[in-house]
Amino acid sequence: MDFAVLASGNGSNLQAIINAAKKGKIRGKLKLVISDKADARALERARKAGVPKVLFVDPKGFPSREDYDDELVSILRKEKVGLVVLAGFMRILSPVFIRAFRYKVINVHPALLPAFKGGHAVKDSLAYGVRVTGVTVHFVDEQVDHGAIIAQGAVEVKPKDTVETLSKRIHKMEHVLYPKVVDNFLRGKYKVSGRIVRMK
Ligand code: GRF
Repeated sequence: MDFAVLASGNGSNLQAIINAAKKGKIRGKLKLVISDKADARALERARKAGVPKVLFVDPKGFPSREDYDDELVSILRKEKVGLVVLAGFMRILSPVFIRAFRYKVINVHPALLPAFKGGHAVKDSLAYGVRVTGVTVHFVDEQVDHGAIIAQGAVEVKPKDTVETLSKRIHKMEHVLYPKVVDNFLRGKYKVSGRIVRMK
């Protein structure tokens, strides 16, 4: 099965996926990388890795979120991807997108959902004083950081942690967990029933 990655920033998770695929650990082809930011490092990483299609799609060219998402859907459909991997894609996807790819869009979040949703999860976890945090990979639905949970990994918070040091360890966990989930998905290993995701 072919898949796509959507990313807005650094793209370290994209890189982890590219590296895993090169080692034969992802049985599927990364056909397409799309970014909403022209200067995203993720685009550079994708070009360097020889991803067949690498696109910057400028949100400014579309009158509404739905119009932009419509465009993404038609690009992704044309490429016949069976999985859309969000890797630091900093836009909330509208129902237009979710309906087109129900249970085919996954995201990685830097906390143990349902705790600490939103864009400042690491900072919020530290400020709350949790002793254990982690990483969640989940299906994307119409609500932010809400869809069915596929995998989680725990990361211990150390007394002297800062947002930077904790983020670093969380990223490490993401880079292990996310490529594994992508591979499992592409091999049809997940069975979903409502919120419950089981391995077949
Ligand atoms: C990751 O921490 C992920 O949890 C969040 O966005 C960040 C993306 O990092 N959704 P990168 O661009 O993959 O380095």
